[in-house]
Amino acid sequence: MTTTTAPKATSHVPDLHGCFGEFGRRFVPETLMHALEELTTEYEKARQDPAFQKQLNELLRTFVGRPNPLYFAERLTQLCGGARIYFKREDLNHTGAHKINNTIGQTLLTLRMGKKRVIAETGAGQHGVATATACARFGLPCVVYMGEEDVRRQKLNVFIMRTMGAEVRPVTSGSRTLRDAINEAMRDWMASVETTHYIIGSVVGPHPFPMMVRDFQSVIGREARAQCLQEVGRLPDEVVACVGGGSNSAGMFHPFVDDELVTLTGVEAGGRGGQPGEHASTLTYGTKGVLHGSYSYVLQDPDGQTMDVHSISAGLDYPGVGPEHSYWKDTGRVQYVNILDHEALDAMKTVALNEGILPALETSHAMAYAMKRARERSKEDVIVVCLSGRGDKDLNEVARLTGQTI
Ligand SMILES: Cc1ncc(COP(=O)(O)O)c(C=O)c1O
Repeated sequence: MTTTTAPKATSHVPDLHGCFGEFGRRFVPETLMHALEELTTEYEKARQDPAFQKQLNELLRTFVGRPNPLYFAERLTQLCGGARIYFKREDLNHTGAHKINNTIGQTLLTLRMGKKRVIAETGAGQHGVATATACARFGLPCVVYMGEEDVRRQKLNVFIMRTMGAEVRPVTSGSRTLRDAINEAMRDWMASVETTHYIIGSVVGPHPFPMMVRDFQSVIGREARAQCLQEVGRLPDEVVACVGGGSNSAGMFHPFVDDELVTLTGVEAGGRGGQPGEHASTLTYGTKGVLHGSYSYVLQDPDGQTMDVHSISAGLDYPGVGPEHSYWKDTGRVQYVNILDHEALDAMKTVALNEGILPALETSHAMAYAMKRARERSKEDVIVVCLSGRGDKDLNEVARLTGQTI
């Protein structure tokens, strides 16, 4: 009997065609091809331009507040009684989440390309807020597409976007969540591509978006890796991050991909359980297909129709995932698990009560898993969790779900 082993994952992906193994590439109408090629060329040039890197790093330092700390969660560690838990504090960034790392980078590219208008989509509202903020900083007009259900769930973020001068367009089609907002933003882009840049908020979409967003977010993992070496004296045993489209996790994992002894774990939304429509665990239950311009794992029915998904957290409520995650899954480099809605809610409360830090509901999925895992590991072990964002935006929804009033 012959056994076939999957090729080992490398950090040197994608190739020139945007392939992460068999995943990625560009599945878009002809009208967008030129814009994607222009973006790829401009991004390549910018990446190698010391002036661009200097401006980006300066903004990350002075506007975003980087580097943010690696924090030892001492009381949570005691509570779990196993591995030491550390948080990478993306919640301390300006606007309260990791999304701003990417929007600053893409806004600088918009200016380089001479485009006059920005559009974006948002689920939890964090990417919309981060885009509106970066556009306000540079005086660019900005339109944000957002599903009506998410507008309801994330009222505070809608108000912040409008205060920053962005126009928020509620999307009433489909399940009125992130998937539908991306569809609408794509439609706008096709009609306005000469003048408009579409700032995609995760490592999804056609090439070069998954690569570019990962690169802009990799600052998270680079800092965490260096901080861990300095503060703990060695690399962590496990790195944990939540996966919606997959950008905070891609940014966190990418700098560790070649460190074979570091376990990487992505945590998806298990929702209410494993039945179709009850979760958003694309890498656990999905099959290969095309969504939003790239080939990846997708939650789809046997006819290839995208399925409805559910998560308590708007930012994880998405039936697709970035192509690099599909590559990491199939090569076995990253393990993907899921956490149920109620476990995430409990984790949010536990972290708040024990550490005085309120994680976003998305992040609370990663927290719930890290706590479970810490209990199984020895006291010598180190787990680093990406604290992707703060939970203020979720409190109206948490109060509603737990029968409280604010
Ligand atoms: C705080 C936070 N974490 C995680 C996510 C999930 O997105 P991604 O998987 O791209 O990091 C979101 C999305 O809005 C978010 O707001």
